[in-house]
Amino acid sequence: MIKHLEDKIKLNRLLNLGTDLNRIHDPDALMERILKEARDFCSADAGSIYIAEKNHLLISYIQNDTLSENKVVYKEHHVPIDNFSIAGYCAKTGEIVLLNDVSDIGSDLPFKFNSDFDEMTGYKTKSILSIPMKGSLDRVIGVLQIINPLKNNTVSGIFTEEDTKTLLHFAGIAAVALQKAQLTKSIILKMIQMAELHDPSETGAHVHRVSAYSTELYIAWAVKNNISPEEIDRNKDILKLVAMVHDIGKVAISDLILKKPGKLTDEEYEIMKKHTVFGAKMFEEEHSEFDQAAREVILNHHERWDGNGYPGLCPAPDYESDKKTQGKKGKEIPLFGRIVSIADVFDALSSKRCYKDPWPHEKVIDFLKENSGKMFDPELIEIFIDNIDIMNSISQKFR
Ligand code: C2E
Ligand code: SIN
Ligand code: SIN
Ligand code: SIN
Ligand code: FE
Ligand code: FE
Repeated sequence: MIKHLEDKIKLNRLLNLGTDLNRIHDPDALMERILKEARDFCSADAGSIYIAEKNHLLISYIQNDTLSENKVVYKEHHVPIDNFSIAGYCAKTGEIVLLNDVSDIGSDLPFKFNSDFDEMTGYKTKSILSIPMKGSLDRVIGVLQIINPLKNNTVSGIFTEEDTKTLLHFAGIAAVALQKAQLTKSIILKMIQMAELHDPSETGAHVHRVSAYSTELYIAWAVKNNISPEEIDRNKDILKLVAMVHDIGKVAISDLILKKPGKLTDEEYEIMKKHTVFGAKMFEEEHSEFDQAAREVILNHHERWDGNGYPGLCPAPDYESDKKTQGKKGKEIPLFGRIVSIADVFDALSSKRCYKDPWPHEKVIDFLKENSGKMFDPELIEIFIDNIDIMNSISQKFR
């Protein structure tokens, strides 16, 4: 009777959780939450999520209630997808692995327990339940693993058949979330390739450089402003991707204007300015953190700190309208917009364009300094110049 009631409560929690998880749009936050809930349901002291990349697994999320901070050092370690480790075997074969005593793995099994993590942290792993996360076509895209079931708050429990079923459920949700994030990334890369076909002279290397300058500028800004490492990690990944599409709206601009060898007329320039609003429209439908960041960058990368930039629609209910609005100024311009604006102009001036020759490096730096507080956020310009060696090495790398 009691057991029956417990099951009912558990099922109810599980059903409510489904709706709850649906509301989380940031993939990292979602994976952390799935891992947390999976551990909760199975009373596991620790757990991790591995993500498959080519022929290895990347440990991407680690949670451990016994250890505190030092766990983070192990994040981003690689495990080959082969039969010799527990997670590797799970990913390679697509099979569930349930081991209630890792010090006693039968000689019929091909893998061994890897004690590196325990040795490094002083943690004692006893039981492991490892479940493959399967995406479309049953392809393994990651592994969800929980460690050391608790009983009366001590590591003395064992994983059961029921835990396996529960964890399978969570592995399914995690797989869907991960696939969605991977799909977004692959769509972005395809969009950039299409833009490159439209305008081969300026796109490819330009978007990668602008993305890399922007990411480095953000990290330096964030460290200086005491943003937490977790937030920096998450934001830099989003910015890295969305900075690449800052000019994606140029696909809607006629070749006659886009590839004009000389200076644009006033009328042509007004049309050109619409690449901001055209681009932002492409990310209007979805409301994930990613889409919002993309709109932020696309719409704001030509705003100026002094308020004389474009398009100045705030927050842009009416993209098609020709009516002139006041540009945004200062910190009304979102941070990602202020960052990409500097990266974009630095790169445009340093490069050859169909309408201009590259400027010498010194002249580019002088331009940035002269426009600090005019076009650009003065704090960000200072950080950019302080990190100019990093920026120069990026421009060498993506020639
Ligand atoms: P883009 O080539 O990527 O340039 C980005 C921004 O870098 C420009 O935004 C501008 O702020 C700066 N920039 C680029 N070249 C110069 C320059 O020679 N002098 C100065 N002072 N700043 C420069 P902007 O002006 O809003 O232009 C946006 C986009 O419009 C440009 O992207 C480019 O695709 C196009 N464009 C702008 N002017 C011309 C032009 O005279 N001819 C042609 N064919 N396209 C132009
Ligand atoms: C999303 O669909 O919101 C995830 C995009 C990403 O960060 O890769
Ligand atoms: C982009 O689509 O992201 C770049 C387009 C361009 O620079 O012309
Ligand atoms: C942010 O922290 O995302 C915004 C802060 C700023 O606009 O400077
Ligand atoms: Fe632009
Ligand atoms: Fe650009």
